[in-house]
Amino acid sequence: MSKIAIFASGTGTNAARITEYFLQNNQSIHIDCFITNKANAGVYKVAERFDVPIFQFENSDFVKGDKLVNFLKERNISWIVLAGFLRKIAPTLIQNFNNKIINIHPSLLPNYGGKGMYGKYVHQAVLKNEESESGISIHLVNEAFDEGEILFQKSCSIEEGETVESLAKKIQQLEHHYFPKVIEERVEAFLKEEK
Ligand code: GRF
Repeated sequence: MSKIAIFASGTGTNAARITEYFLQNNQSIHIDCFITNKANAGVYKVAERFDVPIFQFENSDFVKGDKLVNFLKERNISWIVLAGFLRKIAPTLIQNFNNKIINIHPSLLPNYGGKGMYGKYVHQAVLKNEESESGISIHLVNEAFDEGEILFQKSCSIEEGETVESLAKKIQQLEHHYFPKVIEERVEAFLKEEK
């Protein structure tokens, strides 16, 4: 059984979708817990709905990382999924979970990534530059923000009259559809290599 911890500080719609996907389709992959840095994050409701334990850590714990590494190791977690988690990940976490931290970003990286590029700011910048398409990127996390190896990308076209809201909706649909499958593929590929 491969255990995943999902880090989320937002509404948690991806956390919900991922949890639901594995419960319904593949129980050899288990969402063990959610980790958050925000007391009132929407992901608490998701945790309650799916009966997944949720743990809040201080922002400083994400900066240092040791406490989290110990915590995750004690729970036998082998993968970390970042689903709307905005804090930078401590180097010690990256070293201890080498190539096993997966993030999703709501643009076609390397475009519209990096500092300040999250949520609606990404879509605003994309529309301001009159791009003809945007999309999602699912990538491994390394020490450079939004620059780890890209595992998967999917684009969507931008129509005339597209708004931040309509684009955000399109992107969210792509995220919910592809993110669980890409996680599953990656975890299973890794298990095969280990055999
Ligand atoms: C997603 O758009 C994801 O790409 C980004 O943060 C957002 C999280 O949304 N990293 P939610 O909290 O899963 O609804």
